[in-house]
Amino acid sequence: MVKVAPSILSADFSRLAEEVKRVEQGGADLLHIDVMDGHFVPNITFGPAVIASIKGKTKLPFDVHLMIEEPEKYLNDFIRAGADILTVHAESTVHLHRLVSHIKSQGIKPGVALNPSTPLDAIKYVLDDIDLVLIMSVNPGFGGQKFIPRILDKISELRSIVEQNQYDILIEVDGGINEDNASEIIDAGADILVAGSAIYESPNPEDVIKRLKNNN
Ligand code: DX5
Ligand code: ZN
Repeated sequence: MVKVAPSILSADFSRLAEEVKRVEQGGADLLHIDVMDGHFVPNITFGPAVIASIKGKTKLPFDVHLMIEEPEKYLNDFIRAGADILTVHAESTVHLHRLVSHIKSQGIKPGVALNPSTPLDAIKYVLDDIDLVLIMSVNPGFGGQKFIPRILDKISELRSIVEQNQYDILIEVDGGINEDNASEIIDAGADILVAGSAIYESPNPEDVIKRLKNNN
């Protein structure tokens, strides 16, 4: 069954611990945490201190999505803050292999994210070294944007590469996912669906999580 990772970007930050607990009780598999620096993307969210402050409040694994410039400077801070999966954008560094190797050496799962326009070739030579590929299905920076349909081809292409080479890699898709398009994204090959606004803007986040997982 597909896993669901609610993005706290759309949560009520003034009640963050409760918002996290609610999706945990509603059947979430991971907690997706969007870190933005106002440089790599045109928005600013939060840093390691906020992440550390919710670490003790939930048993959900922390899926930290770094949308920051010079990620190498901050990897250890996010590892210390409690990241279980730490994902860097391929576009944010010229030393991707060094970064994923460092993350792995610290006992954390490395992931690599790709902007919508970045081809899969960008990660060809690190596929042996990572646990997750995060395919962006919107341009990163904001919640509540529309899913880019062309990305379905990218998901299926990556799914074939993973199957053909038997890579032990999860395919996570992020941006514009809701109950209407979840099934085609799962059919294309996604293992994990990130959803922010679809879950947190609903009066019944638990039901949305259930329906995303049950693929209808
Ligand atoms: C966008 C973030 C996403 C965002 C998804 O830059 O990476 O994780 O929270 O939000 P929705 O599900 O509303 O598109
Ligand atoms: Zn994200």
